[in-house]
Amino acid sequence: MTLARRPPGPPQRFFTGNLHEFTRDLLNFLPRLAREHGDVAWFRLGRRPCVLVNHPDLIENVLVKNHRNFIKPFAFDFARPVLGNGLLTSEGEFWKRQRRLASAAFRADRIAGYGPDMVAATLRQLDGWRDGQTRDIHANMMHLTLDIVAHTLFGADVTSQSHEVDESLRGVLRAFGESFNRIIPLPKWFPTPSKRRAQAAVTGLNRVVQRLIDEQRRDNRPRNDLLSMMLNARDEDGSQMTDAQMADECRTFLLAGHETTALTLSWSLCLLAKHPEVLAALQAEIDQILGDRLPTVDDIPRLKLAEHVVLESMRLFPPAFLIGREPTVDVELGGFAIPQGTTIFMSPWVVHRDARFFERPEHFEPQRWAGDRPAELPRMAYFPFGGGPRICIGNGFAMMESVLLLTVIAQRWSWQLVPDHAIKLSPVFTLRPRNGIQVVLARRAARDPSRAGASLEPSTSE
Ligand code: HEM
Repeated sequence: MTLARRPPGPPQRFFTGNLHEFTRDLLNFLPRLAREHGDVAWFRLGRRPCVLVNHPDLIENVLVKNHRNFIKPFAFDFARPVLGNGLLTSEGEFWKRQRRLASAAFRADRIAGYGPDMVAATLRQLDGWRDGQTRDIHANMMHLTLDIVAHTLFGADVTSQSHEVDESLRGVLRAFGESFNRIIPLPKWFPTPSKRRAQAAVTGLNRVVQRLIDEQRRDNRPRNDLLSMMLNARDEDGSQMTDAQMADECRTFLLAGHETTALTLSWSLCLLAKHPEVLAALQAEIDQILGDRLPTVDDIPRLKLAEHVVLESMRLFPPAFLIGREPTVDVELGGFAIPQGTTIFMSPWVVHRDARFFERPEHFEPQRWAGDRPAELPRMAYFPFGGGPRICIGNGFAMMESVLLLTVIAQRWSWQLVPDHAIKLSPVFTLRPRNGIQVVLARRAARDPSRAGASLEPSTSE
């Protein structure tokens, strides 16, 4: 078979290619590429050749079937100053070893043990909520999921330092955005204000992480969280992870483990506010299954609508909306030749809204996840957690956390969007609401008034 020289794509400017549309209007640029140029669309970011791959079979080819031919793309260079050589950014044998080590903490039975901590953390968060209050629920969810990751994976409380963690995350995203916008790439050693900010962010985050490691070392009690497993793990030759490696992994898990789940919950709450009939149905299901009692991990299989809301929210607003790879050899995709070193983008934002795979793709319809319908989808038509060997290690953790948290919140509260607050998307690495999501809270009445004080009301008085 003769391969076309290269896939079709939009016109490009001489120096910058399509950098302008990519950095200024990404969430429209990507679907437009797919619509106008098909399943493999070619474009350029400065001198860097790129393709957007839009068909589930081709995505499966890259992430699953031929994953050995691909590594993480250049974009991860921007994350490396912060994440170091952690699980998200490392490659090859080193990645394999770290993944094996961390996997034990994410086995289904181990994750189930984190359930009570997740529910307890949610109750702590809800303690501060007041009837009629306006709140930025995205900021609240960021705080809550950080609390959960720190408690479950590190056996620690970092809520007093959540500002430092969040600032560091913002520092990284800003540095990433600025470097991307730069038309002429600067050498790695070249000092820039954004690099200095990113460095300050790492220093702040390292303080938090070193405290976690030091506390674990001092504490001799047997524990089985991720941090102690990593601290005690030994290679065949008896060697252990160095403090620097430990710090890389801790920063990776703190950051990767909280912001994506916070986004899933924030978008779920936002969509439910826009669709009060779905919120009412969800609350009816929760009331029927749980009454006033708190959910446990054993309830999850019956909390179907909560699960479907979470899945549908990640379909419409996938937190990791763009996944990238780079072929280490020349490859063929969809009949086109893709040279080694091309950046390959695959976007859940685009594929999840493709009418070939989802009916009425722009509509929020949690019921599309009921029954056998999901099994009829092509394998990678829905991939909020990626796929193949590098699929999100925290996917089971995140699903369980999202369903439990959404259930506890909807059991106790209703909410509406603040009318004039425009919700804008900020697509840098993840799909964030630019100015948060402001809602007005309404406390729900207890189903069984005699038990209200015991389980439904917050523990502090107003
Ligand atoms: C709804 C929440 C989440 C979403 C949407 C999400 C999404 C993703 C995606 C798409 C990837 C693959 C990236 C790629 O292939 O380039 C990934 C990897 C990863 N995620 Fe998540 N994630 C979530 C929650 C979590 C949680 C809760 C943790 C940890 C507690 C976590 C830790 C990681 C790590 C360490 C990796 C790298 C895995 C590897 O390369 O071996 N994530 N995540």
